[in-house]
Amino acid sequence: MKTLSSKHPGFYYNFTTNDGYDLPPFAKILKNSQKISKFYHLGKSPQNPANLGISGRNLVMIRIMFVCHGNICRSPMAEFIMKKLVNDEGLADQFLISSSATSTEEIWHGQGNPVYPPAKAELKKHGISADGKFAIQLQASDYDKYDYLIGMDTMNIRNMKRILGADKEEKIYKMMTFAGSSDDVADPWYSGDFRTTYNDIDEACRGLLKYLKERNKI
Ligand code: 4NP
Repeated sequence: MKTLSSKHPGFYYNFTTNDGYDLPPFAKILKNSQKISKFYHLGKSPQNPANLGISGRNLVMIRIMFVCHGNICRSPMAEFIMKKLVNDEGLADQFLISSSATSTEEIWHGQGNPVYPPAKAELKKHGISADGKFAIQLQASDYDKYDYLIGMDTMNIRNMKRILGADKEEKIYKMMTFAGSSDDVADPWYSGDFRTTYNDIDEACRGLLKYLKERNKI
């Protein structure tokens, strides 16, 4: 791996490899070696001519996968609430945010169900659309593709570890820890109480954003 160094601190950074290859300017993203290594992790090497035209605005730096049992209620709510939060702060370019299920309960012959209507309706009350989202199952390969794999409850965490294997890089989190709680996100599947679920998830997403800012990830 080549070492990259910042030439110009500021909103845009330029990078030169240690063999003198100038990369195009990147938005203010590459603050530490961990993030720089992700540049390589994405398969984008400066030696690859396909990368000559890379714009930093397309470079994904923080990759979050929210996970629940079915991927039709809690985790898609988290996905779209988090997307709204980062979008409202003008940070959308720095995030890849997705959601998935530990089970295949909501996936039939490879086709996932849409977000459960009451979950969609709750999001809509807050001006958030979940159109176009269909349930998908978490894959073992997602462990390398994401930086934060966040389960909604303790059972999700157990099933995530079954799919992903040992959490060697400590990327697996339980959602409400970002709200300073060891609780599970309120599960609306049996209660029908989507408002409490929304409030839990909203609090945790705000906590997650604060957590990332405090650690200079964004
Ligand atoms: P979610 O909700 O995990 O928040 O998407 C559920 C969806 C489906 C089932 C349980 C919970 N199910 O048993 O099919």
